[in-house]
Formats: sequence, structure tokens, C-alpha cells
Amino acid sequence: MNANKRSFKNWIARSLFVLLGCLIFLSCSKTKNSETNSRERILINSGWYFFKYVSQADADSLIYDVRPEVNDSKDDKVADSKPTEAVRVDAKQTVLKDWVLPTGNHFIKDSEKRHIRPEGNPGSDFPFVQADFDDSSWRKLNLPHDWGIEEPFQEGWESEVGGGMGRLASQGTAWYRRKLDISTDDAGKSIFLEIEGAMSYAIVWLNGNLVGGWPYGYNSWQVDLTSYIIPGGVNQLAIRIDNPPNSARWYPGGGLYRSVWLTKTNSVHVGQWGTVITSRNVSEKAAEVDLVVTVDNDSKSECHIEVNTTVYALDKNGVQTGDPVARFSPEKVIVSASGNTEIKNTVTIEKPALWGPLPTQTPNLYLAVISLQKDGKLIDTYKTRFGIRSVEYNSEKGIVVNGEAVRIQGVNQHHDLGALGAAFNKRAAERQLEMLHELGCNAIRLSHNPPAPELLELTDRMGFLVVDEIFDVWERKKTPLDFHLIFPDWYEQDTRAFVRRDRNCPSVIMWSYGNEVGEQYTDKEGTSISKRLRDIVKEEDPSRPATASMNFAKPDMPFSEVPDVISLNYQGEGIRNAPAYVAMKGIHTHPLYPDFHEKYPGKLIVSSETASALSTRGTYLFPVFAGSSAPAMDGSGGDPNTKYVSSYELYTAPFGSSADKVFATQDKHPYVAGEFVWSGWDYIGEPTPYYLSRSSYCGIIDLAGFKKDRYFLYQARWRPELPMVHIFPHWNWPERVGEITPVHVATSGDEVELFLNGKSLGHQKKIDGEYRFRWDEVKYTPGELKAIAYKNGEKWAEEIVKTTGKASQLKLSADRNYITGDGKDLSFITVSVCDQEGIVVPRSNNLIKFSIEGPGEIVATDNGDPSDLEIFSSHERKAFNGLALVIVKAKQGEVGTIKVIAESEGIRKIATTVQVK
Ligand code: GAL
Repeated sequence: MNANKRSFKNWIARSLFVLLGCLIFLSCSKTKNSETNSRERILINSGWYFFKYVSQADADSLIYDVRPEVNDSKDDKVADSKPTEAVRVDAKQTVLKDWVLPTGNHFIKDSEKRHIRPEGNPGSDFPFVQADFDDSSWRKLNLPHDWGIEEPFQEGWESEVGGGMGRLASQGTAWYRRKLDISTDDAGKSIFLEIEGAMSYAIVWLNGNLVGGWPYGYNSWQVDLTSYIIPGGVNQLAIRIDNPPNSARWYPGGGLYRSVWLTKTNSVHVGQWGTVITSRNVSEKAAEVDLVVTVDNDSKSECHIEVNTTVYALDKNGVQTGDPVARFSPEKVIVSASGNTEIKNTVTIEKPALWGPLPTQTPNLYLAVISLQKDGKLIDTYKTRFGIRSVEYNSEKGIVVNGEAVRIQGVNQHHDLGALGAAFNKRAAERQLEMLHELGCNAIRLSHNPPAPELLELTDRMGFLVVDEIFDVWERKKTPLDFHLIFPDWYEQDTRAFVRRDRNCPSVIMWSYGNEVGEQYTDKEGTSISKRLRDIVKEEDPSRPATASMNFAKPDMPFSEVPDVISLNYQGEGIRNAPAYVAMKGIHTHPLYPDFHEKYPGKLIVSSETASALSTRGTYLFPVFAGSSAPAMDGSGGDPNTKYVSSYELYTAPFGSSADKVFATQDKHPYVAGEFVWSGWDYIGEPTPYYLSRSSYCGIIDLAGFKKDRYFLYQARWRPELPMVHIFPHWNWPERVGEITPVHVATSGDEVELFLNGKSLGHQKKIDGEYRFRWDEVKYTPGELKAIAYKNGEKWAEEIVKTTGKASQLKLSADRNYITGDGKDLSFITVSVCDQEGIVVPRSNNLIKFSIEGPGEIVATDNGDPSDLEIFSSHERKAFNGLALVIVKAKQGEVGTIKVIAESEGIRKIATTVQVK
């Protein structure tokens, strides 16, 4: 054998060996692939290209529907003004609506009413939807993205966007494009695009084909891409977003502001939100857990499958732990071609770790892992987080969780995250909840729309009770281009989608399908819409009550008969019924708790909105109102020049009540389940009473996350076991020497002694029906105020407030000095302007300049001042009453030390570090 022949043989042998190796590897990886990757859910938040039209006049004409002309866009009406007639929509010029409507078919119960996609493929010749369109000049960005928050604030009464929507241009038309990674291995799979929230009127094209869309900006939804996918080819996604102006009473944000996922499954798979898990006969000994799984078959042939479900415990970080705690019995079923099947099953879990709200209970969670097998091969794995708990809605005891009556100490929260806008960020949301938890808050009403799903992950894990709410309007508008335009076409799909997504979250204890809707005023007509919505909610989830909040409907009106729970906004405390409100125009009601209780003795009553008290952190105006609640008015609690409302925490919206007044009414009516304060945090938009500002005045916490004095009034009541005492105002009043400067004290104690410069101003004991201690005749003299609180005769807590020296140093303190380098995690750094001794100088408004070194970026700055119209991305920010905030994040994928530097003229600059892991 010559050398050539030998080497040829060797080459053949080697090649065969390599080929065999490859085949073995491929077949193994194929098996591995189909077993472990039976379902792939890929986060596709990175790598998007973005383009927004400069003005609406330039935008393309690929519209969802025509909109009525807006003649009156003023948004400074008070919140309880009666909505006007819904605008009739001229639907003749509909452009893409008929192609979008079929996306919601899955959520329309009556198959006759489902939408049939018309012929044609509109928009297919538009350049932005083409795969070969050159988008390299577009802006590259990652989601979640809110285009409005990047904009400068618009000033003045005539601005395009007024105070109501936060003076930020969240309106406009824009496109997002991205290529999808679809390999030849994906051929035959079902492929879905899941959007957790797009603000708003999103329409999706793939490879030049109009796939579908969803108008309502707050719901999560998906489109089925399967028939438009080119496995192994270029798959170009293009999403058009068209956010109307004048469409909200608060800041909605704009764009793909929540996460987007690409899900690949086998053709037989668990359906969208296809599990329902509820528990029965819950005790510490055992609980029966019922499971319903819906399996979809997207193929043309029937399929025999086996369904197995195992239950694991989750640890407090939401991570699956240990061995399964239970297994449902395997079920064999046949799923018909292009059909679906529901599989019902029950398992008993012995000694279940119950889910319950903090602080008295523990929010234990479980994970149900559902696997589908065909011919012994795994074809889908689907996981659902759930909790085991019992909730009773008792008209005398209130909310009873696992046998314990839990008084609702709740707040309302809008969806924005202050200077970060609407773009969802889990750490920012967690920080909001952490501060609310420290306050003693145990419940959140998600006003007035479904949140990012991760928010419910947090409330589940952190043990909050949640009222999940979907609508602020039905058919009758509150702003010219709000949801009323699409209500008739979409209410059913939106309502079912809302419940299906969130019904396994143990934190959700109630559904709200409406807030202060105009239909309260339309008697039987409005009532029938309410019934319809309530029925839809109950069909989707019979296990929880469904409610709609009422600020107008009275016990004898048909509207109030429908909700399972009586949710009152402001009516429980009475509207404009205290002396300071008597002369005001508008609705006047006495406290209506007893009337509702008498008319509906079996129904739970809760105040879904209370207070609407107003204040600007650290600002005090004189003279101070002598009573306990008054409307904020120019010269009485409010200053139209500075646009500040006094932080003596006595002033309210015209229909509101101070915290103290609400506490008193609640205490008089112990059957009321509790309250949701309007609001926990300040939010962007709705700056009642000063519409030239950018953000609200209602929060217990300001927009930057700094505590107002009200925080301590609530903490004193909600955490009676926490030794605390808080004095307000500050004690820097050089212009007030000798003048009456009232001193108020909040404490969880029952007695307080106040001292001014060592001299006692007297002891006060808690009086029933009063919730603060007041020394209203104090004459200002600089020095030191000291409050010593007592409880049951023992010393309980002490606080000192001193007149400070002038601003001479800055202090920086980060909420976390370690963050993750995932490009999402954040550190919130507070800058305090302090005197020589290190005490915050209360009225200092020094301009602070921020800079950063190392692998980090400054995301935004703020100070909590509602009238500050400096763009949020600015690296310069005036301190507001001594405090400012800088928010930093790590550059994605980088590690090391970030140095954040703050400097202010005439004051030594200072730095702090944040480690990136
Ligand atoms: C309520 C309304 C809230 C908010 C609040 C402001 O009537 O439901 O969304 O507008 O007033 O005080």
C-alpha cells in the first residue's frame, strides 16, 4: 500500500470518525434540546432600533382608527368633576382596526362575536416593516423604554401637554424594530411574541406581514407569529406605537415600556396563562389545591398526552427549593386537532406553608411545574407561582386571611417610578414597596390599571395584599382620547386578559373593574355595564370578589348594588362635610359608611381611596389652620407663587380629608375593612392644586422617595409597636422670631412632653379621635425642640429638632452600595445639604452637580419638588429643602467600583462608591 493510499484511508477513517462524532453530538443535543428546551421563553429586551416622528403631522397613516378632534384639552379640572358624554367615534375611515381586533379573539367567549381577519395585508409595502429597510441610523436601545420621560417638561398654561399628564410628551407615533433569532430547528414550533405592556395602540408586523396588535397600553398580550416565521431566515419584527395626546388623567408614559418575550413551544403546549390554581379547606394541617391546565394543540392532528404536575416550595427570593412537596396524579388526555383541552386535578398538601401578609404572617410561595409528555417524551414545561391561603370577606370583621382579621392599611400607587417614568424597573418598584412596608402599609391598590407582572411578583414575595384594577373609564370619557374610544370593542378582551394573567397571584385579593366611572351617573344604563364587567370577572375567577370604586353612587342607586364589595372613594369620610369645606361648590355628603352598611349588611366595605391630602415636603406656610382638615387654597395651605402646599399635613383636595379626619371616621366605624390612602407615593401628573407643576402633591412619600411629615402620622397609627416620635416643622425660622409657629408631633406613644430650649411646653395625653399632638401657640425662638413620647407611662421615644447653621457640607448616602452589573439594577443615592454639625439644613436649595467615574451611569436626578421643571436626566439638580436624589446604574456587563461625585458652589465636593458585582 503506497503512502498516498494509506493517508487517503486514514483521512476517510478520520472523517468518518468525526462525522460519527458529529452525528452522536447532534442527536444528543437534539434529544437534549427537545427535552430541556421543550419551551423556550427568551427575554428580547435588548437590541431594538427606535424611531419616533418629530410631530404627529409627519407620522405615517397606518393608524388603528380615526380619533375625534379634540377641541378642549384642558386638564386642570378637579378629579371628581362629572365626565361629559362620550364622544361619538366616526369609524368610517377605519384603517387597521379590523386586522388588529382578531388578536383578542381568545378572550371573547361567544365564538359568534369573534373577529374574522379581512383579506389583505395592509402596510406591507411600508418601508419600516421590510426586512431590508436600513434602520442603522435609528436609535439603538434596550427595553423597557419610555420615550416621554426623556423629554423636557413643557411649561405654562398653553403647553401641548399640561400638568394633568405631567408636562412630558408621552404622546406621538414611533416604531421599534428588531431581528428575531429563529433557527431551522424552530421549524414546526409555535412561536409567540409576548408584550407585557406597550403604550399604546401597538400594531405588530413580522417580515412585512401585519400580525395583530393591542390598543390598551396597560394590559399584557401576545401575538402568534408562527405562520409568518421563516426558520433559519431573517425575521424582521416591526412594532408601531401610537400614543394619543389628552388620553389620561396622569402620566401614562409612551412606548415599549415593559418587557418583551419570544416564546417557542411545540405545537402542543400549555396555553397562554393556561393554569388556574386555587386552594380550598385551608388550614395549617392541610389544604386542597385545585389545578386547571389548558393545553392547546396548534397542529392539524389530535394528540395523546400525559400531564404531570409537581409542586415545589419557593424560598423568600422566589427560588425553587428542595424536593417536590406534592405531585398531582398523572392525567392522560387527548387534545383535538387545532383545539384545546382543560385538565382538572386536585392534590392535598399536608402542613402547607401558608401565604399571608406581613408583618403578622409570612408570604410563603409555591411553584407548580407542569410537564406535558407525548409518547414518553417531554414536550412542554410550564411553571406557575402560587400561594395557599384562605381569604374571607367579612362585613363585620373585614378581610380575614387564614383566620386572622387583617385591617387594610393600604395605599394607592400609580404605575410610574418617579424620575424613571413608566419604564418598568424591578429595583425601583421594590424600593417603593420597601418604603411602604417600613411605613406599616400592608396593602396596595393598583390605581387604575394592571401593573407590570413583576410588580405582582414583588407583592407576592413581600407579602402585600393587592387590589388589582383595570379601568378608570368605561364608555364615558374623563379625558378626550382615553380608553372610552375603544371600550365597546375591547372591554371583554381586556377584562378577561387582565384576570387570566394575575389570578394565580396570592397577593391579589380583589379585582376592581372600574374607578369612579362616569356610569355612576347614568342609572340603569351604567349599572348594566357594571353587571356585564362583573360577570366577566367572576367567570374568569369565581374565587375573588369583583368591585368598582364609587365616589358618587349612593346606597339607594342601582349602581351600588352590583359590586361584591362596597369600595368607596372619599364617601366614607364624607365629602366637603367638615366646617372648612361647607361653603364650597360641588358634591357634599355626610360620612356614608353607616348608610352603605345598613343597605348592604352582608357586604364588606373598604375605602378604596381616602384622604387626597396635599403637601410639599418640608414646606410650611403660615398661619396654620386650627382645625384638623381644610381644603388647600391660595393663602390657606397653598402658595400659588411657589406652587407649594403646606406640610403641616392639614390640607386636602376639595373633596378630600386629612389623614387625621380619615382616622377618626374609620375608628368610628370598625366594620370598615380599612383604607387605601390616595396616595402612597407622589406620581407624575395630576398636580392638584397647581397645574403648572409636573407631579402630584398627594403622596405620603414624595416623587424622589423622601418622607413627608404625613409619613409619620401613618406610621404612628399603622405600627403602634414601633417606638417613634416625629416633630414638625423644622426649626429654622429667622424671619419668625417671636411669631406663633405651631409645633405638631406624631407618635406611636400615648403621651408627649415638648421642650423648647430645655423648657417644657407641657405634657399632652392622647385624646380619642385625635391623631397628633399640637402645640399651636409656640412663639418661635431659635434653638432646640425636643419631644419625649411615653406609652403606658414609660418613656417610649425621643426626637430633637435643632435650628441649624448654614449649609457647609454635603452628605451622600446610597440605599445600596453593591449592585449587579446587569444594566438594570440601581443605586438610589441621597444628597443632604448639611451644616457644620452634619444636620440637614431644612430650607437649603443649593444647586448640586453630579459626576460619575467607573463602570456606571447617572440615570436620573430628582428632589421631590413638584414644581421643579428641570429635565429628569439632568446631572445638575437643586436640592429641595435640603435633599436631592441621584439614581445610578452599572453599565451592562461591567464590574468594578463606581464613584459618584456631588459638588455645590462654596461647599467641598464629596464622593461615594458603589461596587458592581
Ligand atoms: C380620585 C381619583 C384618583 C385621583 C384622586 C386625586 O378621585 O380616583 O385617580 O384623581 O382623586 O386626588
